[in-house]
Amino acid sequence: MKIYSLLLICILCLSACVSTPPITVESLHEVADFPVGTSVRMNEFKKDPLTRALQQYHFDSLTTGSDMKMHKVMPTENGYYWKVIDEAVAYTQKHEQRLFGHNLIWHSSTPSWVVKKARQNPQWLDGFMKEYIHTYVGRYKGVVDGWDVVNEGFATKGAGYRTDTIWYQTLGPEYIEKAFRYAHEADPDAILFYNDFNIERDLEKFNSMMVMVKDFQARGVPISGIGFQMHIRMDIPNEVIAHTLKQAAATGLQIHLSEVDIIFNTHDDSRGGGIENHRQLTEEMKLAQKKKYKELVQMYREIVPSEQQYGITFWSFTDRDTWIRRFFNMIDWPTIYDDDLKPKPALDGFLDGLRD
Ligand code: G3I
Repeated sequence: MKIYSLLLICILCLSACVSTPPITVESLHEVADFPVGTSVRMNEFKKDPLTRALQQYHFDSLTTGSDMKMHKVMPTENGYYWKVIDEAVAYTQKHEQRLFGHNLIWHSSTPSWVVKKARQNPQWLDGFMKEYIHTYVGRYKGVVDGWDVVNEGFATKGAGYRTDTIWYQTLGPEYIEKAFRYAHEADPDAILFYNDFNIERDLEKFNSMMVMVKDFQARGVPISGIGFQMHIRMDIPNEVIAHTLKQAAATGLQIHLSEVDIIFNTHDDSRGGGIENHRQLTEEMKLAQKKKYKELVQMYREIVPSEQQYGITFWSFTDRDTWIRRFFNMIDWPTIYDDDLKPKPALDGFLDGLRD
């Protein structure tokens, strides 16, 4: 009898701790015939039962928003920090989700000690990159499904490589292909992406990237996918997005919409560079956003052959957690769940796009 009472108390306590309201919409990943993912910030996520319940219900792929970047993995020269990544591995394995690695080389997450050391001794950087990628990708071989090997290697706007980075300044554009080769050596089965923003709308930037991708393919550099971050705005024309998706799909590579969100306001891609044309989200705006999400999913399904659909990943799936507000210092509502973690019409739009 005592045992039964104890069991009952345990069950009551447990359900009180993790009680979540019933989810009344369909599961995105169950409707989709490709993986659907979201980014999360592990430290907040692990303390948030409702977000975790929604994440487990809707998604079968997970990307960490920051936790797998170089400044987190190697904040100092003294060693690697794997703890949070190992937690992401355990979580995705427990819930049968794909873990995506974002990212190996990115100008914006290169720790200052690496920059300093490379400036003092340029010869050092290539060996460091090789060791870092071999150690990191090797450790998660067969566990991390795919990687953004190089993130944002092209200039913010227009044609040409990004030059304001220690990687380009020290190693030239060849740092990109080296990173792909090192990643492939460490895990020959991992899907290796080049990932960037605005390539769906800035044709000069997109064309620069495509020259590199085609050159890699011609020379056997082991690239296996193109990541369109797809941080878009309501007024980005579908025709332009369709054009770039079509060209990218023609390479035969995997296509990942890797950081999707759709904003109403405008910004200039720099921290704090936002212009708030909209301060409130109206019913009309919600419906327009629903339509845009539907069209984006439809374009992905119609243009990208199914065997090249690596999936669609949201960059946070709630307006409460979106990076947009913090980074651009402006209000916006870019995702499919609202500030109170209630589904928005945008979620129905995404589902409509999956079904039609
Ligand atoms: O966790 C700390 C928190 O303890 C502290 O109170 C707070 C104060 O600023 O900072 C928190 O860390 C922030 C972290 O995000 C988690 O919220 C960092 O300051 C902030 O720099 C970091 O920003 C991330 C950014 O990349 C830089 O790593 C964003 O969350 C993340 O969404 C953003 O993601 C990038 C992609 O990697 C590449 N594409 C663009 C995208 C958006 O910028």
